[in-house]
Amino acid sequence: MANIIEDELFRSSVIKDVSCLDFDYIPKELPHRESQLQLLAQLFRPLLSQVSQNGVIVGPVGTGKTVIAKTFCQKLVTAARSKQVFIEYVHINCRKRSTDAMVLLGILNHFDSRFPDRGFSVQEMLEVLRKQLIRRNAQLIVVLDEADALLKKSGSDLIYDLTRFSDEQQQEKTPISLLLISQKQVIELMDDAALSTFKRSNIINVGKYQRNELYDIIMQRVDLAFNPGIVEEDSIDLIADIAEEWGDARFAIELLGKAGVAADNRHEERVNPEHVRAAKAETYSVVTETKLKNLERHQLLTLQAIAKRLHHDGTAYVNTGDAEKTYALVCEEHEETPRAHTMFWHYLKDVEDAGFITLKKSGKGQLGTTQLISLPDIPAEIVQGKVQELL
Ligand SMILES: Nc1ncnc2c1ncn2[C@@H]1O[C@H](COP(=O)(O)OP(=O)(O)OP(=O)(O)O)[C@@H](O)[C@H]1O
Ligand SMILES: [Mg+2]
Repeated sequence: MANIIEDELFRSSVIKDVSCLDFDYIPKELPHRESQLQLLAQLFRPLLSQVSQNGVIVGPVGTGKTVIAKTFCQKLVTAARSKQVFIEYVHINCRKRSTDAMVLLGILNHFDSRFPDRGFSVQEMLEVLRKQLIRRNAQLIVVLDEADALLKKSGSDLIYDLTRFSDEQQQEKTPISLLLISQKQVIELMDDAALSTFKRSNIINVGKYQRNELYDIIMQRVDLAFNPGIVEEDSIDLIADIAEEWGDARFAIELLGKAGVAADNRHEERVNPEHVRAAKAETYSVVTETKLKNLERHQLLTLQAIAKRLHHDGTAYVNTGDAEKTYALVCEEHEETPRAHTMFWHYLKDVEDAGFITLKKSGKGQLGTTQLISLPDIPAEIVQGKVQELL
């Protein structure tokens, strides 16, 4: 008994440095994001002359938005300091801090970790911030990561206040610059006042990663986290193939890490494609959840109808007619009015675009536009459970 436990606990791992697979780890180089870093440098260059700037980074999940912003801002602070320009950088995750007061408190905690978390109004906190910056003779760059969460909950008042921060007291040079990050076009969520300071030209778009780009990103982590030769060539190719569908670097890195753990658990010394497949089976649930959250209610109801039908019938396919009938039932269960036939078709397409289902023309003998729907990657039962939680 004791031997089993100790054997497992002290067994050597194929992973040399697990910290390099951490989502917070910032690698020295960011392959295939040089142009975005360059654009940021061009955009924020005026900070070196004490002139504030605002920007937005927009792009899908796992495309490097957060890591680009962190890398750039850290470099900016060091480069500016070498020119005797003092910039304070604060990175706020607005999903964790989704009100104006919580965001401001996060900023003030950067200067004073013991700043009381209640008892001050937003205006008072802005005043404290102003004093902090004057005392340090510093300007501030605030990254509002996942900014859509703040805008949805609190509106854009704080964004407005921060961008107008230095306008009133022009004798003091304490500018604040903002960099907003979001998966969606966050500009659309702002009111006119805040919008006027966010010019359209200041948006940096990042796209999904292509297969070869994912390959290079995985390769970098293989070199950082594993000893040479431990991860087989085929495994790297397979991870790139699987991750290509999503274009998501986080998913690729997660697959690599889980494949390493799968090799360890099987007491094997190299990471082979079978370990990657095992990792995929485990990982899809995480990815599914993120992608499900991006679907709207009727898209979810459509997906739910398909999953329900496939699970119940035990078949590989359900035709669109049957799916639509089940959709009507599912709507009823959730007290929603089923949308018209043409809308249902749009939902089907949306759910296909999101990567959950595939549609194909049915064989001969079937009528008109009937198509067959399948759910290739995820067990119907799992989809049902997850969608149910969201509905
Ligand atoms: N070009 C790259 N080179 C190396 N690692 C990368 C690159 N792009 C992303 N990564 C890594 O992939 C993971 C996801 O990146 P990041 O967190 O920046 O994505 P994101 O666009 O902010 O996603 P989300 O919208 O979900 O917040 C991180 O571990 C990051 O270090
Ligand atoms: Mg992010």
